[in-house]
Amino acid sequence: MLLSVQPALLCIAWAVAAFAQDVVDDMSFGHKQGISPNSFAIPGWSMLGEGHVPQLLSDKVILTPPYGGHKRGCLWTERANSLENWSIDFKFRAGAPDRGGGNLQLWYAANGEKQISTSSIYTAGKWEGLAIVIDVVGGTQKIRGFLNDGSRDYKTHTNVDSLAFGHCDAIYRNLGRPSILKLKYTTNGGLEVLIDGSTCFSTNKITLPTNYYFGVAASSFDPPDSFEVFQFALSSATNAPAIEQQQQQQQQQQQFQEQTPPPVHEHSSSPSTSQLTTSEAQFADLHNRLNQLSKSIQNMFTEINRHTAAEEARYKEILSKLPNTALVNGLDSKMANLDRIVSNLERELKSSDHSTQFRKLSEQITKTHVGVTEHVPERLREYVQAHTPRIGFILYSFMGFQTCCIGAFVWYKWRKSTMPKKYL
Ligand SMILES: *[C@@H]1O[C@H](CO)[C@@H](O)[C@H](O)[C@H]1NC(C)=O
Repeated sequence: MLLSVQPALLCIAWAVAAFAQDVVDDMSFGHKQGISPNSFAIPGWSMLGEGHVPQLLSDKVILTPPYGGHKRGCLWTERANSLENWSIDFKFRAGAPDRGGGNLQLWYAANGEKQISTSSIYTAGKWEGLAIVIDVVGGTQKIRGFLNDGSRDYKTHTNVDSLAFGHCDAIYRNLGRPSILKLKYTTNGGLEVLIDGSTCFSTNKITLPTNYYFGVAASSFDPPDSFEVFQFALSSATNAPAIEQQQQQQQQQQQFQEQTPPPVHEHSSSPSTSQLTTSEAQFADLHNRLNQLSKSIQNMFTEINRHTAAEEARYKEILSKLPNTALVNGLDSKMANLDRIVSNLERELKSSDHSTQFRKLSEQITKTHVGVTEHVPERLREYVQAHTPRIGFILYSFMGFQTCCIGAFVWYKWRKSTMPKKYL
């Protein structure tokens, strides 16, 4: 019980703060606790991204991430503004590496979600309404105001920077804390833009119609500026009557009780009515959630489609960059030549021509062999005949030598037998 009392008090405090400013709930976020009751989407706002899906955290929306350049993210109100006199409390933070770049636009424009979507002031084309641009111009951090009645094309304009109707220098990057940008518009007083409590610029020469949409769009360069949005609170510039405030306050309390389940039993004195409102509220809540879920799925699909288109475009670009004519054709004909030669070689190898060639070769070898065996003995005889006299001489001299040896032996034996014998 103690646990639930404290948040209840806090909630009442918020409600009081919120209704003192008469905040239009379905066109605002971040002015109460948290940005969204769920993690899919912000009630009353559509969220779109290019190159990524904006990240919805409990206390902020990251429209462009701190890593990965050339990303876009935007938020647009789902319904048009009906207030004649209004003011906006907008809290944002820009964090970036040294040379990071990007821009943040606060739009009040006709048909914003469809016509402007994630565009920046430089890419929006023929838009209609007001844009407050937060970016770096010529090395100086600035807040500038632009107007367009739909006749001027900002995308093709050669010098968009010259079209600003008001501006001031304001340090907003790498502050660590959120900056507070306030816009005040009244039909008589015109527009006043304040940054961190001090006037940036004001004009009473402009008239803004109702029925335009509010939007917040960020785009990053490479390296990127990371833009985070903490709050967008739209309120009527003229405060609502006191009685209405009280009623709304009571409604707020009731809503809070419905969200916390434990105290339900304590209201058992009137079960039928409280149950009825609870189930109605539950149904409404469920309906809202479903809506937001389908919206975020749709967002994802558009993101996927965009990716596919980008890939296709890049593929086409690569194709167009290829050395298409002479070189490729030359290479092609050379390849065809090579192919023809290889196939000819293959055909020749497979064909029977070779077996006949082999047969011829083996015949040739046989002939050579026969020639050799036929002619060698003849040659030998010729050789012997040619050298006969010398051979005869050798034979006769050998026989003479043997005869001499025998003669000598016989003479020796005869001498031995005829010599006088010595007796010892
Ligand atoms: C808007 O403010 C002007 C004064 O600037 C006032 O005359 C006009 O009645 C206001 N409109 C509404 C609808 O409150």
